[in-house]
Amino acid sequence: SGPATAELVASRVLDVPDFPQPGVVFKDLMPLFGDGEVFRQVIDGIIAYHGRDSFDVVAGIEARGFVLAAAIAYATGVGVVPVRKAGKLPRAAYAASYALEYGEATLEVHQDAFTAGHRVLVVDDVLATGGTAEATLGLVEQAGGTVAGFSVLLELAFLGGRDRLAPRPVHALLTV
Ligand code: PRP
Repeated sequence: SGPATAELVASRVLDVPDFPQPGVVFKDLMPLFGDGEVFRQVIDGIIAYHGRDSFDVVAGIEARGFVLAAAIAYATGVGVVPVRKAGKLPRAAYAASYALEYGEATLEVHQDAFTAGHRVLVVDDVLATGGTAEATLGLVEQAGGTVAGFSVLLELAFLGGRDRLAPRPVHALLTV
């Protein structure tokens, strides 16, 4: 990470007004995911920030966090765990409900997703209000994991997610 990576994220994010509802400006990072060179650099940046030996497994938050988690897992040789929206997981799961910037949602993780004590790197594309991340970090611990770190590509500081997650550290490649 660092200034160069922040610039890359800044150059590959689109503001979409009134999505998914009026008054919300959606931060669309599809241009970043779609650029192979940039995607590789941000994945490598996240791994370098934490250190490749600092986690045993990567958890991705639905949906764009899945893409990031899979790439980090492949690059470092660890496994990937999906943290899913309600009703998608086939077996016994822990659930956490939370308020979004827009609406409400429930996330779930399989009860046997983590080996006890394994260090879990959690990733997502955007940190907004922090509700999604707060629910996820709680689920990881409920399922027996230890949170090793939390990274996002883009942090929207004015929505206060970092404060909500405090004292847990948040790593953002770009903060606006
Ligand atoms: C977005 C984003 C984060 C979450 C952040 O997901 O990808 O997961 O919102 O918001 P918060 O910090 O206010 O909780 P979205 O709700 O668009 O779901 P999707 O990834 O399944 O499209």
